[in-house]
Amino acid sequence: MAKKTVADIDVNGKRVLMRVDFNVPLEGGAITDDRRIVQAMPTIKSVIERGGRLILMSHLGRPKGGPEPKYSLKPVADRLSRLVNECQAVPHPHGEGRNVTDLHVMRDPAEKAADTHARVRFVNDCVGLEVEQAARSLKDGDVLLLENLRFHKGEEKNEAKFAEQLARLGDVYVNDAFGTAHREHASTFGVPQLLQGKPRVIGFLIQKELKFLGDAIGRPQRPFVAILGGAKVSDKINVIEKLLDKADLLLIGGAMAYTFFLGQNKQVGRSLVERDKVDLARELLGKARGKIRLPVDNVISNEMTDTAKTSVVEGNIPADMEGLDIGPKTRQLYASEIAKSKTVIWNGPMGVFEKKPFAEGTRAVAQAVADATVKNGAVTIIGGGDSAAAIEQLELADKVSHVSTGGGASLEFLENGHFATLDILD
Ligand code: 3PG
Ligand code: MG
Repeated sequence: MAKKTVADIDVNGKRVLMRVDFNVPLEGGAITDDRRIVQAMPTIKSVIERGGRLILMSHLGRPKGGPEPKYSLKPVADRLSRLVNECQAVPHPHGEGRNVTDLHVMRDPAEKAADTHARVRFVNDCVGLEVEQAARSLKDGDVLLLENLRFHKGEEKNEAKFAEQLARLGDVYVNDAFGTAHREHASTFGVPQLLQGKPRVIGFLIQKELKFLGDAIGRPQRPFVAILGGAKVSDKINVIEKLLDKADLLLIGGAMAYTFFLGQNKQVGRSLVERDKVDLARELLGKARGKIRLPVDNVISNEMTDTAKTSVVEGNIPADMEGLDIGPKTRQLYASEIAKSKTVIWNGPMGVFEKKPFAEGTRAVAQAVADATVKNGAVTIIGGGDSAAAIEQLELADKVSHVSTGGGASLEFLENGHFATLDILD
């Protein structure tokens, strides 16, 4: 499935309509993790440097289909401007419309005279007359970020009229929104369909994500160990089935393990379980023929707090207690399997790592994965979402081969091996 990338097309003087995933976490209007923006920079810079007129579109959060200030992409525009120009924002002297904001400052006055800088502008909507004007008035190397696509119902519903309004903005279509590649929305599906006949390509982030995930699943170096955690079995059934086929070993942690325990007729106390998935868990264990490893001990407590008193049990969990992390023996067993591996995929934490008493399992696995990369030359891939957050928090992100920018997307790619949104591109 070799795809054309943005490097294969001429963007000079063209309006490049690019879908990115700038759905970043915000706290009180401040971006707490800008990885998704930073990871899109190679594609963004490539377009700017070659004189493209870049129009960026993204969603943020899950607004209900109308404008909601807390989901505005304005904070992202500010961060983007800094990343593009590496300088602070001031209003542009000749802004065209009241809803269009210019965010740039010159590095030195000579540069301003020559007007060779990249302007990053932000517009308070993603479709309509004002947006079309802003897109038309871009100069080569300028950037325009549109407001949240999901402020219109047409985005998630992939409505034809909305897709047409977006498609009108671009001469060229680029998709670099890996985190949203599993959603067939207007910006990811309707728009590229409408732009048939014009260049429609992927960006460098999607190219990189597909390479890591595709190679791991398609031609893994063995042993290939998959580590799956998180709360629910139901989120990961399909991926477990797929990995039973492809991987040599599946290490299970997180609350998901306790649903498997019920499938083995163990007692789990008050642990989080999915009772309606017990038969399925039992079935998966049957199919696994020993490929699935479950925790041999667990950290338990009767409260899930930062100051919780904990103990460790092997086997059954007492009735008034809850399993909240993998225990020390399990950490060691899992770490020794990871140490032998040549390929690792990890998706989902081993315990409630946000709470200190239950963070050790996730920390131990993260450390083992980092060590396998550094000491063993293993290819190690961290799924997006919580495991990506954990590896960042532990400052081990640069010690693994790849941290995906997609949680749901990386799981879906592991399951299906392709995305409809990318199948339709050149
Ligand atoms: C994500 O963060 O999972 C992606 O940006 C997709 O967002 P969604 O799950 O709200 O569609
Ligand atoms: Mg999601």
